[in-house]
Amino acid sequence: MTDGPKHLLIVDDEAALREAIAERLGDHGFVVEQAASGEEALERLAAFAFDVLITDLRLPGIDGRKVLDAAVERYPELIAIVITGFGTVKDAVDAIKQGASDFITKPFQFDALMHVLRSAMEQRRLKTENAYLRSQLEQRYRFDGIIGRSARMRELFQLLETVASTSSTVLITGETGTGKELAARAIHHNSSRRNNRFVALNCSAIPETLLEAELFGHVRGAFTGAIGNRQGRLEQAHRGTLFLDEVGTMSPALQAKLLRVLQEREFERVGDSHTVKIDVRVIAATHSDLTKMVADGSFREDLFYRLNVIPVHMPALRDRREDIPLLVQHFLERLALESGRPLVTVSQEAIRRLMAYPWPGNVRQLENAIERAIAFSKGRAQLDVNDLAPDIQNQPTAPDTSDGWFPDEGIDFDRYVEAIELSLIRRSLERTQGNKRQAAKLLNLKRTTLIEKLKRLEPSDSPKA
Ligand SMILES: Nc1ncnc2c1ncn2[C@@H]1O[C@H](COP(=O)(O)OP(=O)(O)OP(=O)(O)O)[C@@H](O)[C@H]1O
Ligand SMILES: [Mg+2]
Repeated sequence: MTDGPKHLLIVDDEAALREAIAERLGDHGFVVEQAASGEEALERLAAFAFDVLITDLRLPGIDGRKVLDAAVERYPELIAIVITGFGTVKDAVDAIKQGASDFITKPFQFDALMHVLRSAMEQRRLKTENAYLRSQLEQRYRFDGIIGRSARMRELFQLLETVASTSSTVLITGETGTGKELAARAIHHNSSRRNNRFVALNCSAIPETLLEAELFGHVRGAFTGAIGNRQGRLEQAHRGTLFLDEVGTMSPALQAKLLRVLQEREFERVGDSHTVKIDVRVIAATHSDLTKMVADGSFREDLFYRLNVIPVHMPALRDRREDIPLLVQHFLERLALESGRPLVTVSQEAIRRLMAYPWPGNVRQLENAIERAIAFSKGRAQLDVNDLAPDIQNQPTAPDTSDGWFPDEGIDFDRYVEAIELSLIRRSLERTQGNKRQAAKLLNLKRTTLIEKLKRLEPSDSPKA
């Protein structure tokens, strides 16, 4: 709440009581207005944003409940305290459900009212402060819908922000499930094109023969089945953004046509000789290694350079494990919101397993794993290891042994040693930003030994894009 005097409206048809309270509240620094009826209260509430409303529930004409309703609906931040008659607890409970902060029962001492008022104000202050802190956290560790707090992700957010302010072509690379489409949308939403369309086309989902017409549109009779004229995705994205997903699967013929669009900003619909000019930003994505495809001749080198004006790489989840707790929290909150069920927590041991798992399917796989765990937890308030899929459950984790820790039930020696090996290799790889040669050097291992160990310890690790 802001500083300065608090504006308070007191509503009661008993003039003597109302005036006495108003006077004493005034002594306590409130700026007080009075209303003698529900009608009068509604008028004042419509005209002025009070900080506090104190209203009797029983009023002639429009009753206190309606006044309360109107007040909390209009001003979610307003503190409302209702005055109830003796023996009407149910009314009080209903009022709280309706959004009142607290209630006081007639007859009451002024000090009791002050007490209720002070604690309601304190509660509101804490709530506002928490909401503020939360929004700070959310702001700091996200860009649009992309969550992350690791150094890599913060660098990525900066890059995306810079990229959004340009109209350059972007090539987004990264393994499956790393958020390539999310990043493309974030760029669009933060660009000056945000009020125009974001049109996505997955090049691998459409049969080769139809892809050209899908992209460029066609005129009637251009091919069998082309009954009318049809706009392609390119035209739909005019002044907006065209997202070409899995661009690596395009045929050589189509690659040539796309190259022309990028160079000349013009094209023809299939079966038409008329040239269409277009203003579109292209964002392409691929999980395959285009440089390799250029080397083996399956992807045009000139097109690669046209697309790769600004490269954006989405890091694999296993290379930013520190983001896992935050992502888990994000998915839990989202699932709770969607299902209307209460927010659950996750045991630390489960978090450890989640952080140890290599996540070949990256964030999408993590999202699914959390959803699955919630289904398995059968409404318990905390998810634990047993709710996780077996391969995640069995992921060896290495607790800190420096303080002489040793569990009563003993340990599985081989698995434990492997977990420590893996943890050391990961830490050294993080230190060297994934450079295996340097990491091996830090560990006094041969590079080939490090790679072999990684292969053995992280069997489900897919090759990096
Ligand atoms: N950093 C992130 N924060 C929050 N959610 C994420 C993040 N990265 C990915 N996701 C979520 O994971 C899922 C997969 O993301 P997306 O579809 O963007 O991945 P992709 O890289 O395009 O995958 P694919 O290559 O399989 O198409 C989506 O539900 C997305 O919301
Ligand atoms: Mg995708």
